[in-house]
Amino acid sequence: MGIERRAMELANIIAKQDFVRIVAHCDADGITGAAIAKKTLDEIGIKNEVKIVRYINSDFVKETDKFTWFIDLGNGHLSKINGNAIITDHHYSMNEHPASLNPFSFGMDGEVEVSASGLAYLVASFLASPDASLAIIGAIGDLQDLRYGKLVGINREILKKSKVEVKKDIRIYGRDKPLYKMLAYASHPFIPGIFGRIRNAIGFLRRMGIDYKKSWRDCSREEKRKILSEIIKIMVHEGFSYEYITKIFGEVYEIDGKDAREYATLLNSMGKYGQGEKAVEMCIEGKFDGEKILQEHRKRICKYMEFAKRRIDEYKSIYYFHGGNLIIDTVVGTIAGMLLREDNIASPVVAFAENEEGVKVSARAPHPLIEKGLNLSIAMKNATEKLGGQGGGHRAAAGGIIPKGMEERFLEIFDAEVRNQLTR
Ligand code: C5P
Repeated sequence: MGIERRAMELANIIAKQDFVRIVAHCDADGITGAAIAKKTLDEIGIKNEVKIVRYINSDFVKETDKFTWFIDLGNGHLSKINGNAIITDHHYSMNEHPASLNPFSFGMDGEVEVSASGLAYLVASFLASPDASLAIIGAIGDLQDLRYGKLVGINREILKKSKVEVKKDIRIYGRDKPLYKMLAYASHPFIPGIFGRIRNAIGFLRRMGIDYKKSWRDCSREEKRKILSEIIKIMVHEGFSYEYITKIFGEVYEIDGKDAREYATLLNSMGKYGQGEKAVEMCIEGKFDGEKILQEHRKRICKYMEFAKRRIDEYKSIYYFHGGNLIIDTVVGTIAGMLLREDNIASPVVAFAENEEGVKVSARAPHPLIEKGLNLSIAMKNATEKLGGQGGGHRAAAGGIIPKGMEERFLEIFDAEVRNQLTR
């Protein structure tokens, strides 16, 4: 059976319901997926409620009387989710739920070919005419365009149906912002020596005689060429691969003249700071206004980075830091990823933060280790479950929950898992 056919089956299950509870992950992908689902249900007259959550709380699994549509989560809890639910989750899972739309079951890579918002879109397409642009914002938020420097697979098909404009340009976020900010904040890709360092970014631009306050869009062709070639020089010097470097220039996606990543970043920030339901409303209304939220988010990230840099330590083959109750659990993974890139760390980075359920764990790994066969999702699942917790995610980015006080045991088991995977 193809993925479209399975999507249609799920749509038929939904169409029979009087009420649907949508439970979605608190990031751009989950939020846009929830917006697609909610708008569709509203249009076809099915009552619904939306819960944007950090993880699947045991209540959602226990309350079996409410039919639930899980979006961007669920694959890590398949054994616990009963039949009164459907799952559209793109996270890697070897097992199947009778009513799940899992790209990996159809030979597709859920990290690059379709994200959860795209899966929700596929299902919703059999019930109404959902907004394809929302699905693209979700995919971009999930960095699905990172590996190939463009959207591929089902994402590409959805892109064609959306009002997203495809352009060729520098693939760095913030083309409307002052150049020094664009370069210093760039994290995918990040520029070594400049990432996170405003002064270095200003110096870099001044040396080329370019006004550091103007935006990329306001630069002349010659200025753009100069900046690009200097960035490439730095990256070659730092030993980045040809593949990585060439991704700096390529496809960018715009909606109403604005980079799709800006919408995704806003939704991610809102979700991570507990404003997920409001973000869903924003998507449905199509009114994206969140400069204040983004400013606050950036300030917090800078503060968290400084803290994490002071705390990072080595444990055998991995690095780790503990955010305690100072770093919010939803952002600790982002910080681990930024540290990994900024300091060019060649090992996985594990990060802890306390939350009301126990200790949140996040792990991020550099690309060369993924190419060698490392799968953090499996390592996270095994290590958290051994300690009575739960976890999962992707090959290069995984997260989970463990009981308080188990951090050292976790490092021990996780490190062994990582080494085991890399020496097989
Ligand atoms: O929270 P973080 O950004 O580190 O999450 C990375 C990945 O791990 C996400 O894709 C998320 O779905 C997954 N995760 C999980 N279980 C959790 C937390 C995160 O499967 N409790």
